[in-house]
Amino acid sequence: MALTQFREILLKSRPAGAPGVENFEMASAPAKAPAEGEVQVRNLWMSVDPYMRGRMYDRPSYVPPFELGKALQGGAIGEVVESHADGFKPGDLVESMFGWREGFTGPASALTKLPQTGAAPQAFLGVLGMPGLTAYAGLLEIGKPKAGETVFVSGAAGAVGSLVCQIAKIKSCTVVGTAGSDDKCAWLRAAGVDQAVNYRTAEKQSGLLAAMRAATPNGIDIYFDNVGGEHLEVALEIARPFARFVECGMISRYNDETPPPGPSNLIYIVGKSLKIQGFIVMQFAGLREQFHKDMGQWMREGRIRSEETIHDGIASAPKAFADLFSGGNTGKMLVKLV
Ligand SMILES: NC(=O)c1ccc[n+]([C@@H]2O[C@H](COP(=O)([O-])OP(=O)(O)OC[C@H]3O[C@@H](n4cnc5c(N)ncnc54)[C@H](OP(=O)(O)O)[C@@H]3O)[C@@H](O)[C@H]2O)c1
Repeated sequence: MALTQFREILLKSRPAGAPGVENFEMASAPAKAPAEGEVQVRNLWMSVDPYMRGRMYDRPSYVPPFELGKALQGGAIGEVVESHADGFKPGDLVESMFGWREGFTGPASALTKLPQTGAAPQAFLGVLGMPGLTAYAGLLEIGKPKAGETVFVSGAAGAVGSLVCQIAKIKSCTVVGTAGSDDKCAWLRAAGVDQAVNYRTAEKQSGLLAAMRAATPNGIDIYFDNVGGEHLEVALEIARPFARFVECGMISRYNDETPPPGPSNLIYIVGKSLKIQGFIVMQFAGLREQFHKDMGQWMREGRIRSEETIHDGIASAPKAFADLFSGGNTGKMLVKLV
């Protein structure tokens, strides 16, 4: 049935430091009937992602900042309820960037129909979606793992990190991951990770560097960085000559109000001939088909476990987002809307 109105989440204020629920507010908006070439969609699932924190600053970046008082945007999976566009009919499942709202009317050109794979629809926001492609492309295209190498993954129990760890195991590497709780470390070991280090307890004991030296006595060949900060400094310390650094994200720095001090040991880049490359997943959009094929096969073979942390209802989206910065998720953080 067509929607008459829907609720959405607006950016009320720009977070100073860690985001909190007070930075967001919910509003109702009338649902527009679709014009020619448009489709009306009821969202079923929406994604919350760390990169959205960057869009909450009013500064230029690779994506424009969110506007105050306007609805946020993010990945979503929805069901077409009314269509005036060729190729879309009620009941079709579609992916869009019109998340953070219960529904919308938008141009069909901004929607992608989900392929018929038998996977749950929300998998296209996680293991088969943007985080999955980030892990796949970042590790395989930039890290280029070889059998027998040692891969260090920070943020290892998150959406991207948990998949990097498992793809690296499929590529016959030794994998060491860091995560922020013993439960997350237990999950990583159950998923096949060779060693999982709780960075919070390590920091209180002998320090992260000592814990990582113990976990990687022969050093590391690849560092997949989701966290930055001290983790990056430690990785520079334990890197073997010619190690590759895949700079995917630096979540430990996203809430900094003033520029943090840089790693004190960047000199290793020269002496160890390190290769350090950042990337944005969109640059690898051309790999999507191969990624779906490979990931789909690994999932059918039971070689990939994909975990989800699910919040319920549009009103829970601000809390789900804030929780990303305090370790509230294992695997993909999602909001179930219906
Ligand atoms: N380059 C790209 O195109 C691209 C695409 C997608 C994502 N990313 C980046 O990849 C990283 C992971 O993204 P994701 O979607 O998979 O998120 P995620 O890892 O599922 O969720 C965030 C996790 O980060 C950890 N974390 C938060 N603050 C931290 C801190 N100060 N120090 C250490 N760990 C912290 C928390 O886990 P713990 O409990 O372990 O602390 C939290 O659960 C992010 O940096 C993100 O920006 C980049």
